[in-house]
Amino acid sequence: MKLVVVSNRVARGNANEPMTGGLAAALLPVVEKSGAIWVGSSGRVRDGAQKEPFAEIEALGAGALAMLDLPAAHYGGYYEGFANSALWPALHSRADLIRASQDDYLSYREVNAFMARALLRFQKPDAAFWIQDYHFLALGAELRDLGVTVPVGFFLHTPWPVRAVMEGVPHHRELIEAMLAYDLIGFQTQDDCENFLEYLSSCLGLESEDGVVISRYGKSRIAVFPIGIDAEKFALHAAKAVSHPDVSRLRRSLNGEKLAIGVDRLDYSKGLINRINAFDRMWTLQPALARTASLLQIATPSRGAIEAYGNLQNELAKLVSDVNGRHGEVDWTPIRYLNKGFSQTVLAGLYRTAQVGVVTPLHDGMNLVAKEYVAAQNPADPGVLVLSKFAGAADELDTALLVNPHDIDGMARTIATALSMPLSERRLRWEAMMDKLRNHTIQQWFADFVEALQATQAYGPAAVPAMMEPPTLWPLRSVNSGVRYH
Ligand code: F6P
Repeated sequence: MKLVVVSNRVARGNANEPMTGGLAAALLPVVEKSGAIWVGSSGRVRDGAQKEPFAEIEALGAGALAMLDLPAAHYGGYYEGFANSALWPALHSRADLIRASQDDYLSYREVNAFMARALLRFQKPDAAFWIQDYHFLALGAELRDLGVTVPVGFFLHTPWPVRAVMEGVPHHRELIEAMLAYDLIGFQTQDDCENFLEYLSSCLGLESEDGVVISRYGKSRIAVFPIGIDAEKFALHAAKAVSHPDVSRLRRSLNGEKLAIGVDRLDYSKGLINRINAFDRMWTLQPALARTASLLQIATPSRGAIEAYGNLQNELAKLVSDVNGRHGEVDWTPIRYLNKGFSQTVLAGLYRTAQVGVVTPLHDGMNLVAKEYVAAQNPADPGVLVLSKFAGAADELDTALLVNPHDIDGMARTIATALSMPLSERRLRWEAMMDKLRNHTIQQWFADFVEALQATQAYGPAAVPAMMEPPTLWPLRSVNSGVRYH
């Protein structure tokens, strides 16, 4: 089978936004080894109806990395608009932040259709397409409309919310019907999967049997595939990275003081405000912890053109400065706050240096930082992971100190507990987590999904239920520069 993996962001990143780890970095070695073709955005846009949509195609292992310049007229409406101002907040249960104009939706559909046309280049009788994430919910349907019959799978890296939240997304019904063109739909957790099936049942009248749903497109299998990391490789990386100059400088600057670390994209789903409030509370409740434990918070700027992200950046900067002003000393800064990205190598070394990893999102699909923090620890003296129970990773990493990120006092107490946990308990908790990471690698995740995608070919023709109407066609019209509600 010739696999074609599709994602918005690919491993090469965008010249204007340095890549800090994240999904694309984690996927790179796996896709490279698989010999697949990886298709995604080049991070640049192009005007006009270019004949050749691919800006660059380069070798990637035995496969290739193919990058497209997306259409300039639709990029903003697609990426900052519908994908990240309507779908992203909804998927993270922030219905209050959903903003979408009709033009944004049309742009989203146009980019999905554009990607589908570009992918035809890779269609072969033995091909299979694996589409990643919420940027391309309708891509499978677009491929089917173009006559593609090979297996097409989809994996969602974010959570899937309860039905009522998803109903807040304009055109949700049409989009989710379109998702059923995928032969296989993968989620990070059982909860996400159940929420999706509940939507299908309540809103579309479609019931599943053993995780299989029948629609006008045929059969779709809905299943859980929790993503992992290459824990052994990350551990080796971390052990070497302690001598990296940035990591050595950090260690020297600590003067024996304990360190907690948080590494996140600057995103409202990551619970950064609550986290800083929890540290504030901890230093207030336990003044003895001042000077003995500080926080290094790396918050990489993200999606800066969207109002909600700009607001968060301002609010967070002010909060950090207030907390530092309140608890700081002439020779001690409670929170080191950095708005920039770091390489995977440096991050691995920073994780190993910190006695506590704080990963406290309000909602997160999986959260690979949680897994990387665990993998980076020194087995002889491991740190403690404080993890939100609302991160997908909490299902597996259940010997972390699990917290409710809305309970500031509870988080403050738990972080203090983590900072003083005895070695014997730290080792027990860490070993249990490390075992799980070793057994659920990203390589295994990739192989399991591909195997399940191949198996969908054995389903045979589907009986189409009579009650399902063909999807409503969205009005095709040109997109003007229109109002966008960011
Ligand atoms: O969590 C979903 C996701 O798409 C990840 O795959 C990725 O690391 C992250 O969001 C980054 O988003 P963006 O490409 O907008 O920076």
